[in-house]
Amino acid sequence: MIVAETDRLVLTKFTLDDAPFILELMNTPGWIRYIGDRNVRTVDQAANYLKNNQLKAYETQDYGYYKVMLKSEDLKPIGSFGLLKRDVLAYVDIGFSLLPEYYGKGYGYEGTSALLHLAKHKFNITTICAITLPENQASIKLLEKLGLSYQKRVQPFENDEELLLFTLDL
Ligand SMILES: CC(C)(COP(=O)(O)OP(=O)(O)OC[C@H]1O[C@@H](n2cnc3c(N)ncnc32)[C@H](O)[C@@H]1OP(=O)(O)O)[C@@H](O)C(=O)NCCC(=O)NCCS
Repeated sequence: MIVAETDRLVLTKFTLDDAPFILELMNTPGWIRYIGDRNVRTVDQAANYLKNNQLKAYETQDYGYYKVMLKSEDLKPIGSFGLLKRDVLAYVDIGFSLLPEYYGKGYGYEGTSALLHLAKHKFNITTICAITLPENQASIKLLEKLGLSYQKRVQPFENDEELLLFTLDL
């Protein structure tokens, strides 16, 4: 089922068939460096990850992380954008990741803009937040372009690095 569509992208929910793609995405340098190494190295581990994360979230929330597909390449999956309510943050959090060959082409902004529209008009979310490493310039630029503002440094995950917290009232 299509969750959102833009000029160039289609967003749908993940299924277990997406395990090989999630395996590829989670092992890109950008994911490992800026999101974190989840030690997912095989298709079976990726299927388990999907089951325990994306698919589980669909059952407990109205929203979740979606597969981003490119219309011009026959709906090839190129990334994942999503919304998630984490216990450690006050607001629903927006996140994004693309395969590196698709960076810098405006897909991040195009897809996450559609997601923010859904957040406001379909999921009735009133404030959105995001967390990012201070050195993640691409993420910071995208968040600012979406209208989010830097609030403060936070350490939501124990024994982990300090992150920058951004928010936007929708
Ligand atoms: C973050 C990410 C999704 C950005 O997607 P993208 O499609 O490349 O972003 P866009 O092309 O839509 O660019 C949005 C804005 O950010 C800017 N930008 C993108 N990459 C940048 C970079 N490396 N350095 C500085 N600015 C950058 C663009 O110039 C654009 O601003 P502009 O229109 O004012 O020029 C992508 O870099 C990514 O997947 N990174 C790895 C995973 C990750 O870090 N996720 C976030 C974890 S918090």
